[in-house]
Amino acid sequence: MGHHPVEDSNTSSNRTFDSVVSARLSRRQLLKGSASAATIGVIGALGLSACGSSSSDSTPAQPGSGQPTTGTPRSLGFEAVPTSLEDRVRVPAGYRAEVLFAKGDPIEDGISEYLNNGTDVDFDRRSGDEHDGMWFFGISDTGQYDPNRSDRGILCINHENLEDNTLHETGVISAADNSGSRPKVQVDREMNGHGVSCIEVRRNNGEWQVVRSSPYNRRVTIFTEMDVKGPAAGSDLLRSKSSPQGTKRWGTMNNCASGYTPWGTYIAAEENWYAYFTKGDDAASRSADENTLVKRYGVGSAWAYREWDTIDSGSDVYARFDATAAGTDPLSDFRNEPNLHGYVTEIDPFRPAQRPRVRTAFGRFSHEGAWAAPAEAGKPLVFYMGDDSRGEYVYKYVSNANWDPAEASGGLTTGDKYLDDGKLYVAIFNDDGTGEWKELSYGINGLDESNPLFTFRNQGDVMIAARLAADHVGATKMDRPEWAAVHPTTREVYLTLTNGNQSNRPADETDAANPRAINANGHIIRWKEIDNNSAATSFTWDIFLFGSAADRDDDYNVSGLTADNEFSSPDGLFIDHRGLIWIQTDDGALRDTTNNQMLVAIPGSVGDGSRKTITTSGADGTASVDSLVGQDAGSIQLKRFFVGPSGCEITGIYLTPDARTLFVNVQHPGEGGTRELFNMDRSVWPASSRDATAFGEGGNRPRSATVVIYREDGGEIAV
Ligand code: FEO
Ligand code: CA
Ligand code: CA
Ligand code: CA
Repeated sequence: MGHHPVEDSNTSSNRTFDSVVSARLSRRQLLKGSASAATIGVIGALGLSACGSSSSDSTPAQPGSGQPTTGTPRSLGFEAVPTSLEDRVRVPAGYRAEVLFAKGDPIEDGISEYLNNGTDVDFDRRSGDEHDGMWFFGISDTGQYDPNRSDRGILCINHENLEDNTLHETGVISAADNSGSRPKVQVDREMNGHGVSCIEVRRNNGEWQVVRSSPYNRRVTIFTEMDVKGPAAGSDLLRSKSSPQGTKRWGTMNNCASGYTPWGTYIAAEENWYAYFTKGDDAASRSADENTLVKRYGVGSAWAYREWDTIDSGSDVYARFDATAAGTDPLSDFRNEPNLHGYVTEIDPFRPAQRPRVRTAFGRFSHEGAWAAPAEAGKPLVFYMGDDSRGEYVYKYVSNANWDPAEASGGLTTGDKYLDDGKLYVAIFNDDGTGEWKELSYGINGLDESNPLFTFRNQGDVMIAARLAADHVGATKMDRPEWAAVHPTTREVYLTLTNGNQSNRPADETDAANPRAINANGHIIRWKEIDNNSAATSFTWDIFLFGSAADRDDDYNVSGLTADNEFSSPDGLFIDHRGLIWIQTDDGALRDTTNNQMLVAIPGSVGDGSRKTITTSGADGTASVDSLVGQDAGSIQLKRFFVGPSGCEITGIYLTPDARTLFVNVQHPGEGGTRELFNMDRSVWPASSRDATAFGEGGNRPRSATVVIYREDGGEIAV
């Protein structure tokens, strides 16, 4: 399901990010049908901010030396990997890539090896499908979280979705083809194929292995019971036949990207959860606010609906996927079930018997993930989040309590303190290059009973209807926010906008943030909080990088990409502890040139770029736009580090503290293949040897997998 429909339910009149920039860059000129571009003046309003020393000026590294570095390296010490359409992983010369944990791999001793023929039933004891967001939690010798450990840890991995063509023995059997009820064995496999894997991994004699006997190993699936916490817990909008008190929930699904906390817990975000529910025409049985809510969240679009409710089991765990208001009241049906989803969930990898906790204070939307700013003792904790649907918003959570490092071993109890009690903000990008965070709190900014969009009665309502609250405060519509990453020293925030336009952008809707009349390749923006205070309510921003094919003209290829770094549709994003930025792609537009990939660069900072006039022709005319763009791709040394096998997306990344091991996820190789051939006409990766750079053998159904990358000489990655 890599190319899922993009939910588009934001009908608010808030200006898009594009139009804000358009207004900010008021000298934008549109040259309908004209080839003669007027000269566009330099835009003073963009005001390059003086932002201190560049991180690349910090302590010199020793490129290629394999010695530990301190500070941000000055250069990257590898040859760029060429684009590739081969059905295997490509990494730079001198590097190895091995499959560590593939779909179906057992997580316990005594579980048989994966047959990979669609007959395995026990996915609650195996790796799920479609590896996505991921984090590594180092384990000390005494079993405590140790963020400095590089050779032993718990790897938590999201399993976003299913590659249907490879999952079952003979393909998906619909309810219609099975007397009105999906085969239970298929439904159980699908629900267990989702969720999260937590597995202990160790490096012994240079070799990484999953420790199948580890007591930490665990699968969280759609069957896993969870506690709902935070301001929405117990709300009448969360009460359901499956959850009469509104304080428990079955499982988690469509866990796209992720996050981590300073106390060593994992955050799994739910992205396209709404599409798993069916909903009949029940408007007459719902209140006006309820109807507003289902519409604003796309409930009933059902494009990922899997007919799980058709199982005649009598169990709510299946039945709840029909959210039709069919009963006499909310406790007799599942009309409120979608209100229980769309949050982030905290999982304690070190206490595998504990139920995960749903953190409603982070708001409800299509959570791509949640990315922590570096924790500082005595200051609030801050998390950044994107809502990945077209025209949606960027959010920030700020804890009310100040961080006390003494609480770093408290697990979910520490989470209760910092993640259930805080303020949610949404971003507004002002015309003058500044931005502000608008607070989404009950009783503030018009979020109360008299609100014209929704009757907000308390903070729980504001969280459940966070999109409507954000609409009301005038949040800026963004082009599908995916991952964020926070620089470890500058604290600047980078965020991928994967490609907001499923069809070509009309020329008269271009602007400095989206200046290309045909823009299929996405871009990355970044911002800097005032005074480097992550909890601040204002910031400055610019655009870091544009995706493009290398052979496009300068007006389109704004960042000057070359054969060594052309990319499209940035999605996964990570800034390692040395300050190197890693960009992962989920792309359909460059697929005739290369499989999906990962690149790395040495970023500068907000305002380090130059103004450019970009002139492009679209179907309805020519647009000429001035924009502020960060340094070009050559200046930040952007280089391709990794290319995946055919049909995959690259998503999920972690670099160990010693910088010698890189974990990367390969999601759904073979996507786009033929159902009857179980996608093997497109990919048979990975090889049974587990060398990720080898071609797979014929007859292998392709499998998503976590790949471990290291240098043959044991040195630091990428320098
Ligand atoms: Fe699951 Fe927005 O990517
Ligand atoms: Ca995908
Ligand atoms: Ca993503
Ligand atoms: Ca994506």
